[in-house]
Amino acid sequence: MTKAQSGHCIWITGASSGIGKAVAHAYAAAGHIVAASARSRDALDTLAEEAAHLPGKIVPVPLDVTDKNAAEAAVERIETTIAPIATAILNAGIYLPVDAAAEFDPAPYLRSMDVNYNGTVHCLLPAIRQMLTRQSGHVVIVSSVTGYGGLPTSAAYGPTKAALINLAQSIKFDLDPHGIKTSIVCPGFVDTPATETNAFPMPFLVPTDIAAQRIVDGIAAGKFEITFPRRFTFALKFLNMLPYRLYFPIVRRMTGWG
Ligand SMILES: NC(=O)c1ccc[n+]([C@@H]2O[C@H](COP(=O)([O-])OP(=O)(O)OC[C@H]3O[C@@H](n4cnc5c(N)ncnc54)[C@H](OP(=O)(O)O)[C@@H]3O)[C@@H](O)[C@H]2O)c1
Repeated sequence: MTKAQSGHCIWITGASSGIGKAVAHAYAAAGHIVAASARSRDALDTLAEEAAHLPGKIVPVPLDVTDKNAAEAAVERIETTIAPIATAILNAGIYLPVDAAAEFDPAPYLRSMDVNYNGTVHCLLPAIRQMLTRQSGHVVIVSSVTGYGGLPTSAAYGPTKAALINLAQSIKFDLDPHGIKTSIVCPGFVDTPATETNAFPMPFLVPTDIAAQRIVDGIAAGKFEITFPRRFTFALKFLNMLPYRLYFPIVRRMTGWG
């Protein structure tokens, strides 16, 4: 029996581009059925066509994650017309750099929370509801090392990723007793459309296909935290354990900011 015949699927949000697209492709290449969500219907159709020769398949499920009802309907549609969701990879996100001393429009802050945090919750809860009926499943939330602690230009983005880390830590206590695994993905810099306009140096930039493989391997291993490249992400973790009198000057020196 192939994985595609196993009767379950993997749901990926933010699958039209970057990390989500590469993860969708990796799972289809390994023989899985993938339900792929994003707003861009055309990009999802192209992704599905490109996967036609693979052992698994990719089925487009267009969705704007900021629409709670649409997210519930998408889960219902996947469960009834594609396959029960074994793994939900909640990856949809936007990155809006801001300078809080130069721009005073709250829109990027609110929009970031709407997509990155609220959008994840909109998808998470209906997926958990379905997994509870089976007492099995795996929820994977894509955060960022930016969620470990404040960084320059990240005042809109970073808090959404910090919230997602806390969300994953908290739901793990609730879901473990029901046989549902939780993972949080905290990448460093990955070479995607979201980062291609960054004007600052991005140390240890990871190619998208390598990032996808790290995520797929981490999920298969059942890790709670999936973080890469470790020489960068562990350094950031360590920095966040330092007293603030050391943290701020070191980050300033590393980034050349302020
Ligand atoms: N690249 C990095 O260095 C990096 C590092 C750490 C964490 N991350 C995280 O990894 C995730 C993927 O980022 P990426 O770098 O691959 O960015 P990307 O190439 O810009 O992809 C973002 C994806 O999210 C989707 N999306 C955005 N708004 C959406 C909405 N309202 N509803 C549904 N889908 C939506 C986009 O599709 P549509 O526009 O078609 O909707 C796209 O598929 C994000 O959560 C990001 O924060 C990235």
